[in-house]
Amino acid sequence: MTLKVAPSILAGDLGDLRKEVERAENGGADLIHLDVMDGHFAPNITFGPGTIKALRKYSKLPFDAHLMISDPLRYLDRFIDAGCDIISVHVEVCTEKTFDEIIKKLNTNGVRAGIAINPNTEILDWVIKNLNSLYLLNVMSVQPGFSGQKFMQEVLPKMKKIDHIIHEKDFDTIIEADGGVDTSNVYDLARMGARILVAGSAVYGKPYTSKAIKELKEKALPAIKRI
Ligand code: DX5
Ligand code: ZN
Repeated sequence: MTLKVAPSILAGDLGDLRKEVERAENGGADLIHLDVMDGHFAPNITFGPGTIKALRKYSKLPFDAHLMISDPLRYLDRFIDAGCDIISVHVEVCTEKTFDEIIKKLNTNGVRAGIAINPNTEILDWVIKNLNSLYLLNVMSVQPGFSGQKFMQEVLPKMKKIDHIIHEKDFDTIIEADGGVDTSNVYDLARMGARILVAGSAVYGKPYTSKAIKELKEKALPAIKRI
């Protein structure tokens, strides 16, 4: 797969999310990344399924919801109903059994499933076992909570390890890089296997959205072409 950029609207103007979704789409974004936080799993409260549902009508791009919430199963139906195309839940709040329930529900409803892992969480055996049924694995390079944090490059070896497993087993699982992604690290991220680049500040912090997205891709693409 080629490289995709998923702007995180959390880094945009929270008073005008419709404008930020449209700005990303017009600027050439491939997906819209939606950071949902409950003030419990993550030390911030953002937006929920109601906001996502309201934004759905303003974009044709796939909605990539990243649920940083303690009880994803409890709210899953509402995020499905909101029109999310991909829903990622955190491994830290799941057991293999709850994840099994989550993935069944997502599959039944035609929603793609993802697992997100915190910077300090190692890849668990049950995640590896279920890797093939995942659309994406979100490897976080900041602690959940806020956009604009510093990229933690210590996650790169973990990303490489996951990429190795995916290739070895010939799976289609996509690695998504999330947190502090910018033009200075996208080459390394792509080299470690990342194919979806979530970018908050690196897109919304820049005056020209299409230029910002283009630059991220231009810097990262040579790493893919090398392979
Ligand atoms: C952090 C979120 C990230 C973040 C990205 O909890 O999951 O998606 O908003 O923003 P930047 O790219 O600014 O780190
Ligand atoms: Zn995110």
